[in-house]
Parts: sequence; structure tokens; C-alpha cells
Amino acid sequence: MTTATDTSTVYDQLIDRIKDIDLLGGSATVLGWDQEVMMPPGGIEYRARQLAQLAGLRHEWFTDPRVDELLSACEADGELNADPLSPPAVNVRELRRDYARKTKLPSELVAEEAKLASLGQHSWAEARKKSDFEHFRPVLEQIVDLLRRKAECYGWAVGGEPWDALAEDFEPGCTAEFVAGVFGPLRDRLQAFLTKLMDGPRKPSNTFNEVEIPIPEQEKFNRIVAEAIGYDFKRGRLDTSTHPFTTGSHCNDIRITTRYRADGFNDALAGTMHECGHGMYEQGLPPEHIGTPMSASISLGIHESQSRMWENQVGRSLAFWKWCHPRVVDSFGDRLEGLTLDDAYGSANNVRPGFIRVEADEATYNMHVMVRFELERAILNGDLAVKDIPGQWNAKYKEYLGVDVPDDARGCLQDIHWSMAAMGYFPTYTLGNLYCAQFFEQALKDMPNLHEQFEAGEFGELKTWLNKNIHAHAKRYRAADLCEHLTGKPLSADPLMRHLEAKFGPLYGI
Ligand code: CO
Repeated sequence: MTTATDTSTVYDQLIDRIKDIDLLGGSATVLGWDQEVMMPPGGIEYRARQLAQLAGLRHEWFTDPRVDELLSACEADGELNADPLSPPAVNVRELRRDYARKTKLPSELVAEEAKLASLGQHSWAEARKKSDFEHFRPVLEQIVDLLRRKAECYGWAVGGEPWDALAEDFEPGCTAEFVAGVFGPLRDRLQAFLTKLMDGPRKPSNTFNEVEIPIPEQEKFNRIVAEAIGYDFKRGRLDTSTHPFTTGSHCNDIRITTRYRADGFNDALAGTMHECGHGMYEQGLPPEHIGTPMSASISLGIHESQSRMWENQVGRSLAFWKWCHPRVVDSFGDRLEGLTLDDAYGSANNVRPGFIRVEADEATYNMHVMVRFELERAILNGDLAVKDIPGQWNAKYKEYLGVDVPDDARGCLQDIHWSMAAMGYFPTYTLGNLYCAQFFEQALKDMPNLHEQFEAGEFGELKTWLNKNIHAHAKRYRAADLCEHLTGKPLSADPLMRHLEAKFGPLYGI
């Protein structure tokens, strides 16, 4: 018979093993960061081998049958699982989920996926350069075929669909039906709102986006803002890279990056605040559980809710600019010739329907994501053939954003995701915006003077609120459950629409 003491030993054994495996993962993370930020180009070949070896070892150690035995012993312990939301119960639940998923895929399929993802990226880059979808089509057809087989291996719930199985890797517990239920109303209201906005009698100033500020001065300013909003430089770095990202081996060693252009002050600042939000989420995870699911983030959607919180709810607010504007004038005044608060705030909030997702503003961004979700869902269900993607893509851009896509390079070939065999990923961007708006409404209920605080350069209370209500829970809840637990309501399009209407209405005079 298993006694409580025996089983707690079994749990300790499991956690020791998992923490050991996490050391490999953390090492790979630092090597990956180094590759993007520090490594000379000559290092690439061996770096790829180093990372492949660590990934292989990690997979081997984690899928060891002994992990299965330890998990089963822990699952059989009633005392350990008495409170399903306690850290040990959550760790066992999440590790079982990972173990089941990692052992469901045949190794031939994993190898085929790695090969196709590499081939896919190569072919996609060529196709994009030539703006020729036909060049990419055969590989994408193979990728779609592989992804449908992969989804079959994972399986999905009764009434679900293949998309659900793939989205589990990015947004556990999320289904296409759930996404469609929230995106549908958002799309309809956003479309009507954008039409009104573009016909509005006013336009915000854009002058601050036309000013050039030397990059070293921008770097200095971005560090000041990062520090002011609460990014912890004792447990984090800020560097530059081609594509901004956040990584880190554990909550006490977080690496964020940003990028600068002399004529792109707002883009860099927004990018830095965005990555700070990701970084502060990671820094807020419980240090006592490092190396286990109880010190890991919930999902990409919740991660994005934290980055958008600081980028949009804080960094594009009038209150923030009341604090930031005099500092901008102090730092770069000689180049700014009478830059007013309205200029600075307006320039951070220009809405322009376009065809490029990564250049989209806060209001139109979600339309780009919804196009991708609708297409990938149809592709995986077999309702849309790969050859018909460009036509469908362009038709949806015309319908939702009112723009004519000029060519495939600026249309369906603009994103790398599908070429890397990642489907089920895109919606996490908009889920992040939706969760963000709903969380921020709750934060304002709990702390009604938040905007006055921002105006005074005080951001600590919001950070502490996020630490306590979101970060400290690590993987305790699924994203949708956390939302209900924290806001008392299921995720809905209402808070995001209220936020967009309240902000852009006055700026555009509607
Ligand atoms: Co992000």
C-alpha cells in the first residue's frame, strides 16, 4: 500500500527529474538567445547541432517510461490531488498532459515535420522574394497534409475539429468554436467601427512619426521607460535584434530585445514596452517553482495579453503621454520644434487600414488575424484548397479592411508561420488583445485611479496587480478559466470594442 510519505517521495523524485530536464531546456534557451543577439554568422552550423542535441536529449529524458511511472504513482495519491489547484496537483496534471502529447507522435512524423518546416521556410522566402505563390504551393500542400496527420495523432474532442488539436501547442484548451464565437462579433463590430472612423471629420497628428532621432539616444530613452514601468534589469536584459522577442531560461534571467530606426521612435518604444510586458510576465512567475509548470506561462494568448497591456493600455494612453511627453521634449527637444502633447499622443494612435499585419495599428490589427484564422481553419477542415488561398485572402482583405492587396508578397506570403508548419498560432495574437482589454477593465474597477497614476509616472500598482492576479498562478488555470476567475465573465469582444471606441472615437471626431 502506498502511504502519503511514500508518495510525497515519488512526487519529489518526479520534480527532481523534471527540474533536471528543464536545465537542458534553459541551456538551449540561452544558446538560442545568443544566436539572435551575439553570435557571429560563422557559428551557425555548430549552433544548429548544439541545439539539436539538447532538444534530442530533452525529448529522450522526458519521454522515459520512468516519468510515466512516477506520474502514475502521483496520480494515484488522493492526498496530493485533494486540492486540484495546489501546486503539486497542477504540476502533475500539466506534466501528464505534456507526456501524453509528446508520446503520441511517431518519431517519423516528428522528423518529417522538422524537414518540411526547414524546406518550407526556404521555399517561402524564395516565393516571397519573387511574389510567386505557385513557387511555395507544392511545399505548403505537403505541410497541410502533414499537419492534418499530426492532428489525427493528437485527436480532438467530440464535436471538435483538427484545428483544435494543433492549437493545443499554443493555447491549451482553446477550440476553433470558442475562437469563432468571440471573433465573429468582434469582426462585425470592428468592420462597422473602422468604416465610421475612416469617414470621421478629424485625424490625429502624425508629426512625431516623421522626426528622426539618433538610435543611441533612443536606446537610452527606451531603457528609462522600461525601468519606469517595472522591467527588472537585475533579472533581465534588453538588447537589439532583427525581430524583437522575449526569452529566458527562468524567471530570474529574462532576455528581451527590441529594434530601432532613426525615423521610428514610436515603433521602437511600443516594441520595447510590448516585450517588457512579456518579460514582466516571465519575471512575475513563482521563483520557488522554477523548472516546473507552476513557474511557466499559461499560453501564448495570455502572454500576449501582458505585452499588449503595457504596449497599448499603458503605452498608447493619454495618461502615459502626459507623463512621457515632457520627457521626450526634455531629451530630444532641439529636434522637435514645438511638439505638443496632442502631436505625441496622436502620433502613437494613427489608424490606417493596410495589407501588412506587422505594420498594423491597434484598431485594424485584429482584422489581419481573423483573416488568417478563417483561412487556416478552412484549410485544415478540407474546405479550402491550398491553390485557392491567394484568391480567398485578397477577397477577405477587400471585405474586412477595404484594401486591394497588390501582390502575394504583400498578401498571403507575408508571414512566416505556415511555412514553419505552425497553424493554430495566429489567433493567439487577437486572443491576447481580447484578454488584455477584459483584464484591464477589471484592473480599472479594482484601482479606479490607474490613469492618474500613469500620469504621475507610477506604474507599480498595475504591475503588482498583474503579479498577484495573473503571473503568480502560472499554469494553475486554463486561459478561459483564468479570465472567468478574474473578471467574473467569459471572454467577450465587448471590453476590446469599448476600449477602441473610447480611445479612437474622440481622436477621429466621432
Ligand atoms: Co508579443
